[in-house]
Amino acid sequence: AASTAGELLEIALPIARTAAETARRMRAEAITDVQTKSTRTDVVTAADRAVERQVINALRSARPGDGVLGEEYGDTASEPGSPVRWILDPIDGTVNYLYGLPQYAVSLAAEVDGVVQAGVVINAATGDEWTATRGGGAWRDGRRLRCSDATDLAQSLVGTGFGYDAKRRAHQGAVLAQLITQVRDIRRFGAAALDLCAVGEGLLDAYFEKGLNPWDHAAGGLIATEAGATVAGLQGAPPGLDMVVAAPPALFGPLHDLLVELDASGGA
Ligand code: IPD
Repeated sequence: AASTAGELLEIALPIARTAAETARRMRAEAITDVQTKSTRTDVVTAADRAVERQVINALRSARPGDGVLGEEYGDTASEPGSPVRWILDPIDGTVNYLYGLPQYAVSLAAEVDGVVQAGVVINAATGDEWTATRGGGAWRDGRRLRCSDATDLAQSLVGTGFGYDAKRRAHQGAVLAQLITQVRDIRRFGAAALDLCAVGEGLLDAYFEKGLNPWDHAAGGLIATEAGATVAGLQGAPPGLDMVVAAPPALFGPLHDLLVELDASGGA
């Protein structure tokens, strides 16, 4: 099967659009089936599961050999030899979804040999779409995206997010208590994929979070990168569970150093 970045995006787009429609439709109906996952604050709805099933089925029929890593059902193996793995968050921002806050998204990325090549994020409440292919730029509604040109931390708007574990949250709160004194302001919108798109669009100067899983940042990370941002972990590490930082190149260094100083990737 062909697997250029453009071809993978063409497959991903209609599948993600249908998924976003399903999420929106299920939101309009009563949300009755809410369960908790890792902690009391980590919720999953029937819609998360239904959307993930739908996307897995669509990917299976379009590209039967590929692997799929999804938030709700984990890693479903590819046939040996397929270099492509899809990374899916059926509803990123599940708590927003639960409350009807219009900031929740379908996030779908395609990785080839472990490198993300294409990604789409759709705000399922509003229909807004962000896409990127590696080397091909980041786009929203036919408009090419460019991250902000911020260089000064003191004048930067910085987004972040919190995990679901209380110990981790205590540490994240302590880090923020320091950070808030050194930046323009802090935002916590509640969907990591959309936060990364916001960096790509310059709606946030930067974003960081500890504890993100691949489905939270695979597509949005490529979108921010292709919009000119630096997306990485701390101390040369790739973006991952320990830390994801996205910032314009000149802001990345100062933000990175402050996060190291505050031990932002430490704690639980
Ligand atoms: C969560 C959201 C949130 C972030 C959490 C994620 P979910 O994803 O992206 O903004 O702070 O770390 O787990 O659970 O809504 O898919």
